[in-house]
Order: sequence, then C-alpha cells, then structure tokens
Amino acid sequence: MSTFRVAVLISGTGTNLQAMLDQLHSPGGPIEIVGVASSRPEALGLRRAEAAGVESAVFPLAAHADRGERDAALGDWLDSLEVDLVVLAGFMELLTPGFIGRFAGRIVNVHPSLLPAFPGLRAIERAAEAGVKVMGVTVHFVDEGVDTGAIVLQEALDLPYPARIAEIEDRVHGVEHRLLPRAVRLIAAGRVRPDPDNPRAVLVDDGD
Ligand code: GRF
Repeated sequence: MSTFRVAVLISGTGTNLQAMLDQLHSPGGPIEIVGVASSRPEALGLRRAEAAGVESAVFPLAAHADRGERDAALGDWLDSLEVDLVVLAGFMELLTPGFIGRFAGRIVNVHPSLLPAFPGLRAIERAAEAGVKVMGVTVHFVDEGVDTGAIVLQEALDLPYPARIAEIEDRVHGVEHRLLPRAVRLIAAGRVRPDPDNPRAVLVDDGD
C-alpha cells in the first residue's frame, strides 16, 4: 500500500498539527506527515514538527518580493515532498490563486465556525458577539474565496450564553482535534469525492 503524503501549513501554536501527528502520522505507513511549513519563524508548531522528526521550513512573506513569489517557493517545496494533500491548520495568510490552482482539490482548511456562517478572521469572537447558541467547526476544501470551498465535515457544539472567549476557544479546539484528523483520514482513504449533482459540494462516505 502506498503512503498518503500530507503537508501541514501553520502560523502559530500548532495544536491541530499535534493532533494529526498523534493520530495520523506514521512514517512509511498509510498516512505520513512529510513536511510542516510556517509563515512565521517563531511558530511553536515548528518545534512540534522537529520533535516528531518531520521536515520543516519557514516561508515568511517579508523574505520574498511579493505573495506570488512566496507562494511559488512554497509550492516548489511542497512539490519536492510529493505531497498528496496540503492541510491549512492555523495558517493565518491568504494564498494566491496561482497556488490554489497549482494544488487544486488538494488543499483543506479547518475553520472555527459552522460555515457559511462567520467566514474569515475572528470567527469565534464574531460568533460570541452575535450571541449564537450553537457554533462549531468546519473542515473544507480551499478554493479562491475566503472559506468558501466544499465542506468535508462539520460538527456543532452548544454554547452557554454568555460564554467567555477562552472557554469557547477551548471547546472549539477539542472538536477540531477530532474532526480534522478524521477528515484527512477519509480523504486519504478515497472516501471523499465530488458530488456530480452539486459542483459546490462533495460526497463523504463516512460509514464503517
Ligand atoms: C484553529 O482554531 C483553527 O480553526 C484556526 O486557527 C486555529 C489554529 O490553532 N484556523 P492551532 O495553531 O492548531 O493551535
């Protein structure tokens, strides 16, 4: 059986990266995390990669002439690792259409809301400000829009109101750390495919 090769893009703490290292990563096994790229040299997630013996690299925007050039360098690095899937896990930067086209259908993101509600930045804060009673987590494919690609998995959670932001973040992270590895495992197993009847959606075979 061939290995499904995953790269993870981060900008910060990397708790979702850690969840994937703990739950999915097995060198030469069915799923291997072959590389971790960060937009910031000080990202704690880089140390998690190092501790797991996974190759890492830093692609700060400031080191490149513009975003297009940075994304080209990042794409070349990912191609050199022969990645099957690119996972955005707290990657806090926009990717250019050129990069998204280059890895079309092979990029997923984890977002802390029930999309299409609260796309973009500060999703948790905005949900709290709106007084929502139910929120959740979405894993979706990345297209050229902001958090608009086809949804792979979602999980809702009830919120007490009012709830402290730190408490919501804790609970959201708990869901993310289950949902993202599950989504990657389904994609690796070929259990996620385009819906022929709806170009915006995918069909997920989540059965046993
Ligand atoms: C997560 O909450 C994710 O939903 C958002 O960024 C956060 C990253 O957290 N896109 P971590 O770096 O994985 O701890």
